[in-house]
Parts: sequence; structure tokens; C-alpha cells
Amino acid sequence: MTEGDKKYAGSLNHAMIDGPEGHAAQEYANHFGEPGYPDITKVYISQRYDGYTEENQETWRILYDRQMEFLATHASNVYLSGARSIKLVRDYIPYLEGPKSVNTFLAPLTGWQSRAVPGYLPAKAFFACLARREFPTTVVIRPKQSIDYLPEPDIFHDIFGHVPLHADPVFADFLQTYGQAALLTDDPYHTERLARLFWFTVEFGLIREDGRIKLYGSGLISSPGESKHSLTSDKVDRRPFDLDRVCDTSFEIDHYQPILYVLESFEQLRDAMNRYATQLIDAASKKTPTHA
Ligand SMILES: [Fe+2]
Repeated sequence: MTEGDKKYAGSLNHAMIDGPEGHAAQEYANHFGEPGYPDITKVYISQRYDGYTEENQETWRILYDRQMEFLATHASNVYLSGARSIKLVRDYIPYLEGPKSVNTFLAPLTGWQSRAVPGYLPAKAFFACLARREFPTTVVIRPKQSIDYLPEPDIFHDIFGHVPLHADPVFADFLQTYGQAALLTDDPYHTERLARLFWFTVEFGLIREDGRIKLYGSGLISSPGESKHSLTSDKVDRRPFDLDRVCDTSFEIDHYQPILYVLESFEQLRDAMNRYATQLIDAASKKTPTHA
């Protein structure tokens, strides 16, 4: 994206991701899976933490304060307990490496790790990371001028929004199984269905806990506007989770979601994914189509 066609104010701190390491990693990611590009770890970069400016740190604190107070009563208990377990704090942008890093606290819980990447990963590279229990993580943070909305992931979305759930063993298993299934599936029919499943769970999922609907999807968790809208608006159709029905539902990315799916538990999601993965693995081994 060039400065001319971007859809937000301010500029990203490109010093964090530019340079030979970032360019080499992005180039590798763009070719991952082709002959000569088998090693997914080559898409990772270091976080270069000293590159964050004071304004970047302030942006994190503002976002954290604004969202965590609301989430304390409206986010899934699994999310909130995960955020405590990985020691997510308001005072500084999370470290991915070193003794204070989220990875240090996450490793003994589920084995998941967050790995810095230079930017957008093609689907197969993204799935290959998940299959290894590694979460590709954007390290730049949105410009302070665009604090309410950035049309692409940043570290607030990726760490604050996604990573606390990786501390939960059930969600952790689900996400790895998802990555393994998506990595081996080449059938466009199932690729589209898997993308919808990711969208309506990992990104925009709701869950019922103690009789109340709570947030867990990262797109909701990290969005001050849509987190409230998703729970309170009468324009949102909150449907019971059913994997086939989710996979049949198309979505659009540029407005608040009019349809959301509500889990009864993360075990429900894990078990549904396990059944779907078994079906996909069987189909891949026999090379037979699993749909008409
Ligand atoms: Fe996301």
C-alpha cells in the first residue's frame, strides 16, 4: 500500500519492519510452499523493540485503558484469565522476546508462541504457522491519529485481541487443528468454508457464559466500537454456533458484522473442528472430493 491509497490518517512506524531482514522474510513468505521455500521459520523477524516511539507506547496505553474496562464485564472469562496469565499490561507494548515477554508466560501453558512477521502472510504460510502453534504477529502499532480504526492488523489487534486465548488449552488445540487442516486442504470449496469458520470464531466469535453472551473474537475484543455494537445492537443476528451453518455463511469485511455465532463452550468449537479436520484429512489421503 502506498501513502496515496491508504485509508487511514498518520503513518505506520515502518522502521520496525523495513530493512533487509523484513524484506527477506516477506519475500520468503510470498513464495512459501514453492520449490526452494520449505522453511516457514524464515518468514519470522525480530521485534526490534527499541524502534517503538514514545507515541507508539502512548497509543498502546490509550487503547488498553479504553478497552480493558469494558472487557472486564463483557469479555469471556477465558480471554480475561488468559490476559492475566500472559501478563498483558497497560504500561508498555508487549515484548515477544525476553524474560518479560508474553511468550515466556505462554510457553508452559500451551506451547503456543507469537512470532513477529513483516506484514501480510499468504494463506498457506499463515496456516503453516498455526499448525506449529506459532502465531504470526504484526509488530507495528496503529498511528495515534488512527487510534479508532486501522483496516489492517497491528500489534494491538494481534496480541491484545488474539493471544490471551492461546493460553487456554482447549482453544489452543482448536487453533492448531484448524491450521493443520487448512494447510493440507487444496479444495477451494473447503478453503472458503475454513476462511468463514476462522472469521466467525477466531475473529468475531461470541460465547455464552453464565447465561450471558460474552466476547472472544479478536476483531471484537480489539474494537472499541464493534465490541459494544455486537452485544447490544438489535441489528445483529446472534445465532447458535453450528459448524456447517457457519461455513455456509458469507461475510463482508468493511462494516460491522450483521450476523454473529454464539458458542456454548470452547469444547464445542474444538470438537466440531476435530470432526471437520478428520473429514478433510481422510479426503486428502484418498484424494476424493468431499462435496458434490
Ligand atoms: Fe485477527
